[in-house]
Amino acid sequence: TSRALRPVGELARAAERIGQHELSERIPVTGDDELGNLANTFNQMLERLETAFSEQKSAFAKLEEQYELQRRFTADASHELRTPLTRIKVSASSALGGTEGESDLKRALEIVDRSADDMDRLIRRLLLLARSDAGQLIQGSQDVDLVDLCAEFQKPAADGEPAVQIDAPEGPLFVFGDPDLLSRAIGNLVENAVRHTPSSGHVTLRLASDSDEIRVTVEDDGEGIPPEALPHVFERFFRVDSARSRSEGGAGLGLAIVKSVAQAHGGSVAIDSELGKGTKVTLRLPHKR
Ligand SMILES: Nc1ncnc2c1ncn2[C@@H]1O[C@H](COP(=O)(O)OP(=O)(O)OP(=O)(O)O)[C@@H](O)[C@H]1O
Ligand SMILES: [Mg+2]
Repeated sequence: TSRALRPVGELARAAERIGQHELSERIPVTGDDELGNLANTFNQMLERLETAFSEQKSAFAKLEEQYELQRRFTADASHELRTPLTRIKVSASSALGGTEGESDLKRALEIVDRSADDMDRLIRRLLLLARSDAGQLIQGSQDVDLVDLCAEFQKPAADGEPAVQIDAPEGPLFVFGDPDLLSRAIGNLVENAVRHTPSSGHVTLRLASDSDEIRVTVEDDGEGIPPEALPHVFERFFRVDSARSRSEGGAGLGLAIVKSVAQAHGGSVAIDSELGKGTKVTLRLPHKR
């Protein structure tokens, strides 16, 4: 071949190498003649291809992650629903066995009744999370006074549970949102604090605001959360002590719901805890505009 065409052959070989191996390789550009231009154009095309491939790759990874989360959610939800269902089945079967007296029959029916209620509550919460995933959590918004809403959670110590004290400013603090969801979120936080604090301990529901936001804080001096568990407490179905929490009725959905509600209202939630010292959860919500 003629000497003039030798660079073309080199270009072709370089292009082939790149096609077979790495998209990150580039063709050496020599001179600013037509061949140099060609090499440049080719390199730019490689640049765009590389960007497109890496975008596609990360989009795919994200999809895969979402799929895995969804798969786990379905598996966990099925597992949780089976617990009360098994109780219903066992009680009903033993009642149908026919050797029990009337009081045993009544007890069996009571278990069936209670377990059905547990299932109902669980399903409602699962539906709430499904609505949240679809971006349809809030169905109707209005002005909600958080001072008013929080007042309902005040209660004296009773039945081995600590008192819940409120520390709030005089005037109203308005957010624009769904009162049922907000009440449920704050209720979940109070319920957690009460459940993990001895009757001699303290649970405080505090309200504060500045020009940026309203902060709802639930603080307790109860058992606290181990540091290795803390990053996971907002995950669905996560419980620090699964066996014990389960027997106390927890599905591990409370904080996941709080997070969904906070985000749906344009806010956020954060947790701070020290084992043996106590826990503080802060819900931040924007002022109504
Ligand atoms: N105030 C707290 N003190 C100590 N541990 C807490 C506190 N709040 C939450 N936790 C821990 O975090 C876990 C997750 O809480 P979350 O409210 O999501 O679930 P749950 O209370 O177990 O069940 P559910 O709220 O669905 O009835 C709990 O199981 C508990 O171990
Ligand atoms: Mg809870």
